[in-house]
Amino acid sequence: MRTTRKCLGLILASGLLLLALFYAWSPGTSSGVDIWQRQGRPVKKLNAKMQDIISGNPDIAYHIKEDVACRLAQNPCVCQGDEETFHLPFSNLLFPRMWAHKLDVPFLESQPDPEATKRHRAQEYSSFRRRSYSPADAFIVAEANSPLQYPIQGVEVRPLKTIIIPGLGLKEETRSDHMVYLTAALGTFDVAATVANVSLKGEGEKHMILSSPLLPALNRQLQFVTYTNTVFHPKTADTVQFGTEGHQSFFTIKVGHATIPKLYYSGYQTEYNISALVTIATKTFLRYDKLKDLIDSIRQYYPTVTIVIADDNKHPQPVTGPHIEHYIMPFSKGWFAGRNLAVSQVTTKYVLWVDDDFIFSANTKLEKMVDILEKTTLDLVGGAVREVTGYTATYRHTISVEEGGEEGDCLHIRSGYHHVIEGFPNCVVADAVINFFMARKDKVLQVGFDPRLARQGHMEFFIQGLGSLHIGSCSDIIVNHASKIKLPWTKSDSQKAYEKFRYSSSKTNNIHNELFYFKNRFKCMVSI
Ligand SMILES: *[C@@H]1O[C@H](CO)[C@@H](O)[C@H](O)[C@H]1NC(C)=O
Ligand SMILES: *[C@@H]1O[C@H](CO)[C@@H](O)[C@H](O)[C@H]1NC(C)=O
Repeated sequence: MRTTRKCLGLILASGLLLLALFYAWSPGTSSGVDIWQRQGRPVKKLNAKMQDIISGNPDIAYHIKEDVACRLAQNPCVCQGDEETFHLPFSNLLFPRMWAHKLDVPFLESQPDPEATKRHRAQEYSSFRRRSYSPADAFIVAEANSPLQYPIQGVEVRPLKTIIIPGLGLKEETRSDHMVYLTAALGTFDVAATVANVSLKGEGEKHMILSSPLLPALNRQLQFVTYTNTVFHPKTADTVQFGTEGHQSFFTIKVGHATIPKLYYSGYQTEYNISALVTIATKTFLRYDKLKDLIDSIRQYYPTVTIVIADDNKHPQPVTGPHIEHYIMPFSKGWFAGRNLAVSQVTTKYVLWVDDDFIFSANTKLEKMVDILEKTTLDLVGGAVREVTGYTATYRHTISVEEGGEEGDCLHIRSGYHHVIEGFPNCVVADAVINFFMARKDKVLQVGFDPRLARQGHMEFFIQGLGSLHIGSCSDIIVNHASKIKLPWTKSDSQKAYEKFRYSSSKTNNIHNELFYFKNRFKCMVSI
């Protein structure tokens, strides 16, 4: 019963939230150019009719289906780990345990004024929301049986330019006078042609009224209605109100520049030319012997592919040879800084990331990675790393974020993947993969590597890329790992995550905590 009530509360709360979101938006009227977002403005008076549409029939009883209702997002989320029930050697491997880690307490404890830090985070978050909100995200309901015809989506205008609004119409019974009106916030209306027997009011303004005693004439006139964007913003949307007596509707016109494509010319080829398409990037520190083995192994299979090396050794040694670019960095700049530098210097369409102690073999078929990137919508594809012991890892994970209210959101990391890729039976889609991957260079640069993560950091890149990278993982593209040192992913994942995220006063850990708690606004994480 308690669950039922909780779910019911949740459903009602979500409904109210949607209402609030819908009505929070209200057009501005100032004369200056307003680049503030409309979200968060004082809520305008609720339109009683719309409210009725959303929450109608309050008298009719209903039964909550618990198994379904409880799948709806819970607000706020919590991170719950598994209890440790028994202790056996390898029990963690056989029955992986879910670990829950608080991120707020460890980070805030390290702060001189925790409350001030929390307020700072809240401020930064609200300004992020203002920057990222688009009126095109607003919730809009189309009324039943409206005589109005209008475009639901797909209308777009370049900043400060003019378009004809397609699809406008009025379908109603003939009467002595027919009238429609249009209202916008970021632009004005006009007509590209006039039609006899139609009268217009407000041409060139934000509010235009069209009326006629003849319905066909009015509908003809509606085909010539134009919208001119007058408030510059490189990427936003205008919500247009289109109404007649007793009915109103809303639709959005997207305002924005066109996306400028970034295409790579790699010469006309009948088969993939890896040298023209791919650059291999790596970062080296204290392991020139390993790096030399890596380069030699690459040259055996790919003699002309460019290799970019970022090097932050104290006493850098020359690394020379054809198609090698060696970038010396300040001493100990770190792991992610090196990745950033190396990737930024890539001029090919794809970049292959390798560690400096990997060794190419006949199974390291870069053509397979190129093939899947060329044929699918994937941005990044990981391979497999074979240890000296013969153990092969793909390190596939899924990541999700649940809403957590004011305290921050909850991050979930799980071993596994989403689905197999059709036509590529050895490949799956996941949210995070191993440290051996090929990716579209532009997409990797877009996500970037936080240069403060100096010694450790892998999952962080994929967390930053969540929602912008489409990621695959193929188990049949294999690179060998030369070192006998245990790689982090050969430990059980939960063990590793635990070691990484548990409370520690070390500087590295505090950067991780800051990254998750402050930059990404998480309050806790669960991993398995
Ligand atoms: C429509 O316009 C034409 C030409 O201006 C006029 O002759 C006619 O009377 C008008 N019809 C109505 C119904 O107003
Ligand atoms: C492959 O691309 C490289 C670099 O662009 C070029 O030098 C080479 O001639 C190409 N190879 C073939 C077979 O086209």
